[in-house]
Amino acid sequence: MRVLVAGAGGQLGRTVARVLADGYDVMPLTRAELDITDDAAVRAAVADVHPGVIVNCAAYNAVDGAEDDPVAALEVNALGVRALAGAAAAIGATLVHYGTDFVFDGTASEPYGEDDPPNPLSVYAASKLLGEWFARGARHYYVLRVESLFGGGALAPGADGRRLGSSLDRIADALLAGREVRAFTDRVVSPSYVDDVAAATGSLLRAAPAQGLYHCVGSGHATWFEVTQELAARLGVQPAIRGITLDELELRAPRPRFCALSNRKLAAAGFEMPHWRDAVARYARIRRRLAPR
Ligand SMILES: NC(=O)c1ccc[n+]([C@@H]2O[C@H](COP(=O)([O-])OP(=O)(O)OC[C@H]3O[C@@H](n4cnc5c(N)ncnc54)[C@H](OP(=O)(O)O)[C@@H]3O)[C@@H](O)[C@H]2O)c1
Repeated sequence: MRVLVAGAGGQLGRTVARVLADGYDVMPLTRAELDITDDAAVRAAVADVHPGVIVNCAAYNAVDGAEDDPVAALEVNALGVRALAGAAAAIGATLVHYGTDFVFDGTASEPYGEDDPPNPLSVYAASKLLGEWFARGARHYYVLRVESLFGGGALAPGADGRRLGSSLDRIADALLAGREVRAFTDRVVSPSYVDDVAAATGSLLRAAPAQGLYHCVGSGHATWFEVTQELAARLGVQPAIRGITLDELELRAPRPRFCALSNRKLAAAGFEMPHWRDAVARYARIRRRLAPR
């Protein structure tokens, strides 16, 4: 079956394209090759490739930037998804789209389930929630909510020479360089390794459970401080890690404090997400191998 991957130049897009290439005929399209905010281009690309599955990894992820440029966030995270869903519906393709933990307000004390009501605190979060709703416009769809993605820092630079990475990748950079790292003691997350999210995506496509919304994050949860400590231990470094709180930073967009998500529904569909500590250990092994000696 043919799979079109939109946003294939990003950290998840590159990983999904690589992982799905084992079993599928994958057509990865970067932003330069397909801008999902261009409805006509989306329709033309989907008509041309005629995929059985469209995986959308394209996103506007600048959480603070979205407060100042809400139109840019809405165009990519909401209207771009609407265009892909419409194109998927037109040819009966399955749409896979990725959501975020930020749709919740973070006031819970137990991991969120798919039925818990969202309450986005920021423009970015609202744009991503709209994207989830628009994804339903495809005749058959999966929305996988992921969070605190990492792994881009272990990928080779893309064709444009840019090195990918997220918060945890940058923390790994700092730890390996012996720089002090600041990490939140009051934000709880379920860090999600791009390799595991890509494997879960492949498993869902193969098992074809009921369509809909699935949480898909590293199992378990911890504060960013604890995650940073674990990463440092796995990297074999002993840096200074300074605990900070959200209130100490003047971030443009509010962040939810407790963002653990439950993978129970995904597990019932046949895929157990590895624990975040296991994922960090695998990631650290690669980063240690890649680190200059
Ligand atoms: N990173 C996280 O911690 C996190 C957390 C929760 C949810 N997610 C979700 O997980 C998914 C994958 O995220 P990621 O971390 O892989 O993001 P990423 O590394 O930033 O990749 C996003 C990709 O989308 C591309 N893009 C942006 N606008 C586009 C457009 N109009 N048309 C086509 N492509 C476009 C970007 O290209 P350029 O680089 O050229 O702009 C980039 O290659 C997204 O849905 C994201 O919202 C991520």
